[in-house]
Parts: sequence; structure tokens; C-alpha cells
Amino acid sequence: MTDGQALAEAQQMHWQRTYTAHPDMYGGEPSAPAVHAAEVFRAAWARDVLELGAGHGRDALYFAAEGFTVQAADFSATGLEQLRRAALARGLEDRVTTVAHDAREPLPLADASVDAVFAHMLLCMALSTKETRAVVEEIRRVLRPGGVLVYTVRHTGDAHYGTGVAHGDGIFEHGGFAVHFFDRGLVDALADGWDFQEVHAFEEGELPRCLWRVTQSLPR
Ligand SMILES: C[S@@+](CC[C@H](N)C(=O)[O-])C[C@H]1O[C@@H](n2cnc3c(N)ncnc32)[C@H](O)[C@@H]1O
Repeated sequence: MTDGQALAEAQQMHWQRTYTAHPDMYGGEPSAPAVHAAEVFRAAWARDVLELGAGHGRDALYFAAEGFTVQAADFSATGLEQLRRAALARGLEDRVTTVAHDAREPLPLADASVDAVFAHMLLCMALSTKETRAVVEEIRRVLRPGGVLVYTVRHTGDAHYGTGVAHGDGIFEHGGFAVHFFDRGLVDALADGWDFQEVHAFEEGELPRCLWRVTQSLPR
């Protein structure tokens, strides 16, 4: 078992090194959940999107190209620098701002200031259950009434669940990447007080990673 703070710091360094060694590692095309989220956000008349764990921005740039205004947050300054360069190259710099931010800290945003939040594989990073609940409380605070949250997480059906280095609280580390594998109880707990819309199972990548895409919104 590793101390939470030490694990968080090691993870931040690991992501910095990873983006330095593998610029644009997730490619330039949007993820499937981002394409879905854009439809959900449009249907909810959303304009301002906050993305948490945006990395080098494959999805933030897609939201911007689709006409949304995007605030892209991540604790990797290297990933965000790659995002800014890509935004400039695509002429999207007016629609995307970057925010260097550790999800374990309060969001530097006003209450009820964004229409929609997207987080693809951020909540399943090395966050304890308590920290994950706090992140979702922060999302609730910055979302407007009726605002929508679409997030994805790896879950306990994933091949890496229960293997590698165990850090406790459902967190296992492979190749330096620590992942909090969600069970359904945690998804349900994080939807408490929200209008729960959907849990959709899907796969991504070559392992493949087994994920849930969760959509929930705040009451109006
Ligand atoms: C699995 S990657 C996904 C990146 C991006 N969402 C994508 O799909 O292209 C997870 C991202 O979360 C970021 N991250 C991990 N823990 C974080 C934390 N505590 N605060 C902010 N960002 C974090 C990493 O730097 C990384 O960019």
C-alpha cells in the first residue's frame, strides 16, 4: 500500500514523462465517448464545456471544432502544452483555454459557470474513493442547473483489475500507470442527487480497456 500523496506525485511525474516521450499518444481523432458527449451536450443546449483530464487534447479540440467553448484541465503541463500547440495549428485557439489543475484540488471556477463537463478516464486515475467523491462534488458546484456530466472509467471487469501493484481502494498499477477500477456501487453512489441517464459499457484500445460511459445531469 502506498501513501496517497506519494502515489499522486509519482503519477503526475509519470504522466509528464509519458507525454514527453510519446507526444500526442492518443492521436488526433476524438474518442468515441467524446463524439457521443458532443451530441448529448448539444441536445442540452450546452455551449461551455469543462474537460477534466484532457491530456494533449484529442477530445477538447474536437469539442472546440464542434463549436463549443472548452476549458481543458489536466495536471500535466506537458500534455497541455501539446494541446495548446495543436489548437493553434488548427486555428481553434480562441475556443480552447487550458488550466493546469490537479483534480484533487478545488476547481478554479465559479459556481454554476459551465454547461457541461466531460472526463474520459480521469475519475479512474489514482484517486481514492473519498477524492473521487470530492471531484464529483466540485463538478456539481461548477455546473449550471440542468448541466450534464459525461465521464468514463475503467471498471472491475477490466483484465488489469486485481493485477499488478495493489495500492488499496481498488487502485492497481501496471507499467507505472495507476488505475482505480470502479464497481457499479461507486457509479451509483456518484449519481446520488443527480438525474441518472445512462451507464454504457464499451472498450477502447488494444488490451482492450473495459470502460463504462456514464451520463448524468443536475436537476433544473
Ligand atoms: C488516461 S489519460 C486520458 C487523457 C484524455 N482524457 C484522453 O482520453 O485522451 C488520463 C489523464 O488524466 C490526467 N490526470 C491523472 N491524474 C490527474 C489528477 N489528479 N489531476 C489532473 N489530471 C490528472 C493525466 O495527466 C492524463 O492526461
